[in-house]
Amino acid sequence: MIRSSTDGARGPRPRYRTRLALVIGAVGMLATAGAIALPNTASAASTLGASAAERGGRYFGTAVAANKLNDSAYTTILNREFNQVTPENEMKIDATEPQRGQFSYGNADRIVQHARSRGMQVRGHTLAWHSQQPGWMQSLSGSTLRQAMLNHVTQVATHFRGQVTWWDVVNEAYADGSSGARRDSNLQRTGNDWIEAAFRAADAADPNAQLCYNDYNIDNWNDAKTQAVYRMVQDFKQRGVPIDCVGLQSHFTGGSNYPSNYRTTLSSFAALGVDVHITELDIRNAPADAYRNVTNDCLAVARCKGITVWGIRDSDSWRSGESPLLFNGSGQKKPAYDAVLTALNNGNPGGNPTTPPPGGGCTTSTTAGTVWGDRYNTSVTVSGASNWTVVVAVTAPQSISTTWSGSASLSSNNTVLTMRSNGSGNTFGFTTMMNGNSSARPQVRSCTAG
Ligand code: G3I
Repeated sequence: MIRSSTDGARGPRPRYRTRLALVIGAVGMLATAGAIALPNTASAASTLGASAAERGGRYFGTAVAANKLNDSAYTTILNREFNQVTPENEMKIDATEPQRGQFSYGNADRIVQHARSRGMQVRGHTLAWHSQQPGWMQSLSGSTLRQAMLNHVTQVATHFRGQVTWWDVVNEAYADGSSGARRDSNLQRTGNDWIEAAFRAADAADPNAQLCYNDYNIDNWNDAKTQAVYRMVQDFKQRGVPIDCVGLQSHFTGGSNYPSNYRTTLSSFAALGVDVHITELDIRNAPADAYRNVTNDCLAVARCKGITVWGIRDSDSWRSGESPLLFNGSGQKKPAYDAVLTALNNGNPGGNPTTPPPGGGCTTSTTAGTVWGDRYNTSVTVSGASNWTVVVAVTAPQSISTTWSGSASLSSNNTVLTMRSNGSGNTFGFTTMMNGNSSARPQVRSCTAG
């Protein structure tokens, strides 16, 4: 279902052809020197969606506003970079059921059609929420409101059945602060079971959709709100309430910062047996480090299925004054964009976490070899094991062209090398094409004995 945005009719870009020529040159030169040439048919992914797809089928998506779909600067970036879309406002209750019993899907359908016709997956947002309720719903209470909410969930999930991969079934139901309590709302006042009732209704209407609980300020593992949502998900799993995923909005804007224990939060939710999604990412002033950390945290958790940024350009953001996104108002890539793409390209190709080796470790020492104008050699010596597997990564756009003295496999973009001992000693080597980056040097990710 996920389609790499390098696929399709556009074909390879000029930069790829240039680099391929350099690689062929390198392979030829080293082959004459007795080195083993590897087939080199793939390029480093050059867009966020394509690279995420290579990391275990993940997505990299964005919130989309229907009224911007006729802005060609906007759609050019959308269509090039992203393989997942969340309607920013068009599937909310006030948009889809403005009058009780009268449903309106025009803008949402436009976004879904735009996305699906380009192979992008759609996240539905959101079926039940205390906010952006139409006036008629705000004035209801008790069992009348409960029935109206369930009817809304049923009707909307039925309309989009088969078109929406994930639903934010319930959004923002917990209170901020230290209470760990539910947020007070007209929906909460219909009874504490309103959330599970909404999930069961969504499941009945679209049994194939992945059903998520979505919230903000559940990023810091130590926060009472995070712990409260964790306990609810744990309870739902234990009692068989149909829940498949948790969405962490991750608005690191408006005074909420990226927490250093974010990865713990992701992996802790995942350990409950649900997928985790980063659903509305934006970060005040878009520091490259924080964007890189979030990306690496998702890549480190196998059940983290993808990242959605909450808008494309800073000017599209609900917090445009904080310039929190990956593209500036002119549509230019910001340093945070480069940090995210590099982190994605350097990620483990299968998208799985780099875990401590079960059979014990080994150690490596890396020695710089010959440097040419366009490429350089590196050798790695392994200690502590005679049978070993070493994973080493270079920084895109650099890519590994040639290896020797080991049994090699490369990621599809040739940035991650998995080298296994093949009886030819404890030192192996490889050649890296610089492709315009002459300063970065390889990093050994792991050394596994056996
Ligand atoms: O479309 C009308 C327009 O016709 C009118 O002229 C204008 C001025 O009143 O308002 C426009 O609607 C606004 C809409 O955004 C579209 O721009 C609404 O007033 C405004 O309330 C709405 O804000 C949205 C907000 O949710 C509402 O809660 C933001 O765009 C949207 O980014 C934001 O998204 C939420 C997520 O759904 C949940 N998580 C938090 C996130 C940020 O608040």
